[in-house]
Amino acid sequence: MNTFEELNRKGFIDEVIDPTLDLFAEINRLKKDKNAVILAHYYQDPDIQDIADYIGDSLGLSQEAAKTDADVIVFAGVHFMAETAKILSPQKKVLLPDLKAGCSLSDSCPPRLFAKFKEKYPDHMVITYVNCTAELKAMSDIVCTSSNAVQIVESLPRDQKIIFGPDKNLGAYVAKKTGRNLVLWNGACMVHEIFSQQRILKLKNRHPEALFIAHPECEESILKMADYIGSTTGLLKYTINNPAKEFIVATESGIIHQMEKASPDKTFIPAPPNNSCACNDCPHMKRNTLEKLYLCIKNNLPEVSVPMDIILKAQKPIERMLEISAKFGL
Ligand code: 13P
Ligand code: SF4
Repeated sequence: MNTFEELNRKGFIDEVIDPTLDLFAEINRLKKDKNAVILAHYYQDPDIQDIADYIGDSLGLSQEAAKTDADVIVFAGVHFMAETAKILSPQKKVLLPDLKAGCSLSDSCPPRLFAKFKEKYPDHMVITYVNCTAELKAMSDIVCTSSNAVQIVESLPRDQKIIFGPDKNLGAYVAKKTGRNLVLWNGACMVHEIFSQQRILKLKNRHPEALFIAHPECEESILKMADYIGSTTGLLKYTINNPAKEFIVATESGIIHQMEKASPDKTFIPAPPNNSCACNDCPHMKRNTLEKLYLCIKNNLPEVSVPMDIILKAQKPIERMLEISAKFGL
């Protein structure tokens, strides 16, 4: 068994697993024994998505974390998502298969620098995208996700001045959609920033019937080409409801697993990044594996913790987001 220091250094339990073990059966058994629930983001490996009790986007996952009656939440996602679950359900044990599953967008907004930025705009309200640290949420008035950012901004009076962070791309998209002037923090996601406009155009030429769909964390030049823009859940629903047979998908490639399961007769082509890879994986999301998930649920470690003073401050803006989302039927 690992010591806590070792765990903090590595981020995960490093135990040899019997190769003959049926990990799916073992995880299901442990889940029942411990009254645990597995919540997984669409960007996780297909194996993890297949064993999860709930798969969703950031909004769906926080709604599920707020209402689950399980004693243990095993969060197959990244650190800020598990933190959000802990803030919403502080009495529950929240486990993350790899503590080092971080997020470049969250890292692009250090809380101390954001506090200084905020001081420059004392009459502004602060809306933060959920992809940020618990400390940043504690400094915010309302949290949002890519599913509800437009509605959250529109829920405020038109003359209300707003700071939006940390994602400048989502912020610019929301500003355009709502016709409001938002003060943006200059952060971005490493996965959504590297889609190649040229390679996508080539792909569109080769697949003239394909619809191009994109996540609002992408840059404006990419969003301009899109037939539809939406959160991961929005993109999935669009591919289910639209009769088209081919889609070029500009977001992390993990979502394609659910698209293919829901519409086996349709073709999904990952939009290529500006490197030699064919698709775009988030290295943080992909730190979680089925093996780490098994060891995590078996050992009740690594556990995510958030200081109580931060929990108390961060609860309000997240609950406000959930209330506004419910009003809009999201
Ligand atoms: P959504 O889950 O809101 O679609 O956001 C995608 C993302 O980048 C999560 O890290
Ligand atoms: Fe963060 Fe981007 Fe990875 Fe989402 S896809 S976890 S925003 S780095």
